[in-house]
Amino acid sequence: MNIKEVILENLNIASYIEEKVNEIASAVGEGSAVNALSGGVDSAVVTMLGHKALGDRLKSYFINSGLMREGEPRQIVSWFAQLGVTVIVIDAQSEFFEALKGKTDPEEKREAITHTFYKKVFGKLVKKSGAKYLLQGTNFTDIEETVAGIKRQHNILEQLGIDPQEHFGYKILEPLIDVRKPAIRLIGKAAGLQKEIYSRPPFPGPALAARVIGEVTPEKIALVRAATAIVERHLSTSGAFQYLALLHEDRVTGIRNGKRDFGLQIEIRCWDSEDAVTASPTRVPYEILEKMASEITSMIPGVTSVTYNITQKPPSTIEPI
Ligand code: XMP
Repeated sequence: MNIKEVILENLNIASYIEEKVNEIASAVGEGSAVNALSGGVDSAVVTMLGHKALGDRLKSYFINSGLMREGEPRQIVSWFAQLGVTVIVIDAQSEFFEALKGKTDPEEKREAITHTFYKKVFGKLVKKSGAKYLLQGTNFTDIEETVAGIKRQHNILEQLGIDPQEHFGYKILEPLIDVRKPAIRLIGKAAGLQKEIYSRPPFPGPALAARVIGEVTPEKIALVRAATAIVERHLSTSGAFQYLALLHEDRVTGIRNGKRDFGLQIEIRCWDSEDAVTASPTRVPYEILEKMASEITSMIPGVTSVTYNITQKPPSTIEPI
């Protein structure tokens, strides 16, 4: 790996922002660029850097893959409207679900999402807009994990030997590639993002598909989306690094209305971490765990089991796929 990490302690945020804004402006020149918001912190910070560098020559999209959290497209559009940045929502739900059909292997699912995102959806958008550059929020941890072969992060291309220019017809700029999450939050704050955005827990590129074990279908995503909303509502004030709900593939016997119910299993994970490289399960108060279990089993049809992960990363990872 030939990228040198910029350690938080050595970071001068104002000059980092200036340097990255200049880099984007000089790479894109008189042309234009596009970027996609995922709902995560990294892509939001990149949007601000790109907006400072290019103004209206940066077109920011929110790709509605159908894999996003509840209310997400509306929320992102409204946050960025407050900052004077227009976000265009693209409905690509059918493309993503079609690509995920029948796939059960985690890496195949990630590959399907990457291909659909970069080739099918973005390839078309970039061609139509005439842009030559895609700005994206790849960070140092993403690169590290992909290079180590732990997970293929959805936004990693070059390190896997994929030339975006050759494969998709555009170049990729990754201004945050040399920093990790804690630095990215501070850069976002200094770049003018609202606290709700720069302090958001991380959210993975493959979105809720990273939280469905086995085949991803619209029904399973709806289920994990509902569980995510409950978990986020209860844990947003926990101070944890990240919290999530995942849907298992195996069913377990339960009882509902006095009858056997061979039901679904939701697992809750809540992590304490600095930078996602290592993580420990948060000691969530038992009453909160019980409340979440009770809401999930009463409000989400078919769920008969809710568990809480107590495994460290490593050997676990934060996301289940
Ligand atoms: P893991 O699951 O590898 O996750 O322990 C480490 C951190 O990265 C996030 N994550 C991703 N982010 N694309 C991303 O942009 C991905 O494919 C991806 N997979 C995991 C995860 O949420 C955690 O914060």
